[in-house]
Amino acid sequence: MHLKLSLYSLTIWLFHLLILEGESSKILGVFPTVGGSHYIMSHSLMKGLAEAGNNVTIISPHADNTLVKNGSYTRIVLKGFAENYQNDMKHLNLFEVKDFNNHNQEAIFQKYMYQKTEMIFRDEGVWKLIESNETFDAVIVEQFSNDALKVLANVFGGHLIVFDPIGPFNFVNRLIGNPTMVSYNPQVVSTFPRPMSFKDRLHNLLLYSYEEVMNHFVFLPTQDRLVKKYFPGAPSIRDITTNVSLVLLNSHESTWQTVPLVPNAVPIGGFHIAPPKELPKEIKVFLDGATNGAILFSLGTNLKISDMDERRKSMFLNVFAKLDQRILWKADENISSLPPHVKIVRWLPQMDVLAHDSIKLFITHGGLLSLTESVYNGVPILAIPVYGDQATNANNAVKAGFGLSINYHDPDFNEDKLMLSITELLRNNQYKTNALKLSKVYHDRPVNPLDLAVYWVNFVIQHNGAPHLRVDGLYLHWYQYLLIDVIAYIFIQLIVVAMLLTLFLKFVLKATIRRNKKMKQQ
Ligand SMILES: *[C@@H]1O[C@H](CO)[C@@H](O)[C@H](O)[C@H]1NC(C)=O
Ligand SMILES: *[C@@H]1O[C@H](CO)[C@@H](O)[C@H](O)[C@H]1NC(C)=O
Ligand SMILES: *[C@@H]1O[C@H](CO)[C@@H](O)[C@H](O)[C@H]1NC(C)=O
Ligand SMILES: *[C@@H]1O[C@H](CO)[C@@H](O)[C@H](O)[C@H]1NC(C)=O
Ligand SMILES: *[C@@H]1O[C@H](CO)[C@@H](O)[C@H](O)[C@H]1NC(C)=O
Repeated sequence: MHLKLSLYSLTIWLFHLLILEGESSKILGVFPTVGGSHYIMSHSLMKGLAEAGNNVTIISPHADNTLVKNGSYTRIVLKGFAENYQNDMKHLNLFEVKDFNNHNQEAIFQKYMYQKTEMIFRDEGVWKLIESNETFDAVIVEQFSNDALKVLANVFGGHLIVFDPIGPFNFVNRLIGNPTMVSYNPQVVSTFPRPMSFKDRLHNLLLYSYEEVMNHFVFLPTQDRLVKKYFPGAPSIRDITTNVSLVLLNSHESTWQTVPLVPNAVPIGGFHIAPPKELPKEIKVFLDGATNGAILFSLGTNLKISDMDERRKSMFLNVFAKLDQRILWKADENISSLPPHVKIVRWLPQMDVLAHDSIKLFITHGGLLSLTESVYNGVPILAIPVYGDQATNANNAVKAGFGLSINYHDPDFNEDKLMLSITELLRNNQYKTNALKLSKVYHDRPVNPLDLAVYWVNFVIQHNGAPHLRVDGLYLHWYQYLLIDVIAYIFIQLIVVAMLLTLFLKFVLKATIRRNKKMKQQ
């Protein structure tokens, strides 16, 4: 017994020695995006890596005071980012973003991101780190229209790891040669439901092709110039962006559509979720007292209810007034003449609220974190997607059978439709059943997603960048990858054969006619 126990402690001790001493690595995280969900993701990931015994440094616009035991956690706060963002958001009503068509939306976004990326390359704190000649074993960069940032892996001599916040779309796929299935993988800002009709697939092909062309001829060259401006000796942007050891995807088969993944694309969707905590008293009392159940209504951290037009706002109010359920509504303004069963809060711990037994339905904008948290808790959703990837996420939920979706901009988004959708979701048990089924799938994983991320980051460091995980497709030209050269060759061969055959047939025909004529003449 004693021997067993001490063997056990010895194993534990050895394990700690291995994890905390042997595998303690220096990891740099570059997470420049300001939005609240990006803060949750970047800090969950980097804290997880630090708690696993690594020495972590994070470059981020968020100043927070999280201290991590076992290993250190250094923050470099990007100057001016948070302030600029607050200012930008004052002038931008995100509910109106759809007024640009898809391409414009992307071009404007890219221009905006270009300025932000350049701000990082000029940041005092970042330069201090560069000039300290410090090196890192791995550099994790958030993928968000900022490919130039990947040069920092070269600067700090670390293996390049990409964190992708919105699932395996073409902009991360092309970094690692992961296939983008144009036939069934709707483009990120599209609204095509799955499965796509012929028309949608045609449109999808055009969207993707347009993007690839723009990426090749406009976006990457711009990023290349940006890199060269600040790091004249750096490799070309193409060499930088295809030198990715690992992509950590904020998705999972239970929260996203199922797609093929190359071995260095690792889905860690849900890694940000911590076990539920006690709710704030006010919210707990409200939900505990919801004898007919409750509905959570939150449009995430960026969309502000104060920006919503009066027509839609009163639509929600009128529908809520008619429901028997209590409504917990996250809003940034007070709304007058609220019925007593509707409660407005500025902020709420969304994950903990969704874990409450009273919650029957979640009305959401369809952000990937919100969707993941619904799946985690088995809560059906009504998605009201507004911009970006929200519509594709919402369509995934509809396809998986645990939700309905009404696009915010749909001309037929009216009170009746809202009421019908909510009552259908509450009445028809199918949605809840499917949500619980998916939740089971979500939880049935060999390791929790944060540990999986830690494992793979260590793996990349232990195996010197793990080049053996990369597919050959990464190094082919696009026409080779798509077999266009081979298909063209076969096509030309077929044409040559067809021409020869035609000539031969003509010859035979002519000969026959001549012979026939001769025979007639005789
Ligand atoms: C940190 O280290 C202490 C002692 O070395 C250990 O008891 C504790 O479990 C560790 N915490 C984590 C999060 O690894
Ligand atoms: C982590 O790295 C920083 C920067 O190199 C260093 O100052 C610090 O001492 C390291 N911490 C640990 C626990 O090794
Ligand atoms: C960093 O390296 C450069 C070039 O090797 C050297 O001139 C500089 O003094 C080093 N800086 C520090 C802080 O060691
Ligand atoms: C690619 O990354 C490896 C480390 O994983 C590094 O040694 C190499 O210099 C990088 N190459 C380019 C072109 O960035
Ligand atoms: C909303 O109401 C609360 C209390 O009723 C008040 O403290 C707060 O200042 C109000 N906020 C706004 C933006 O009107």
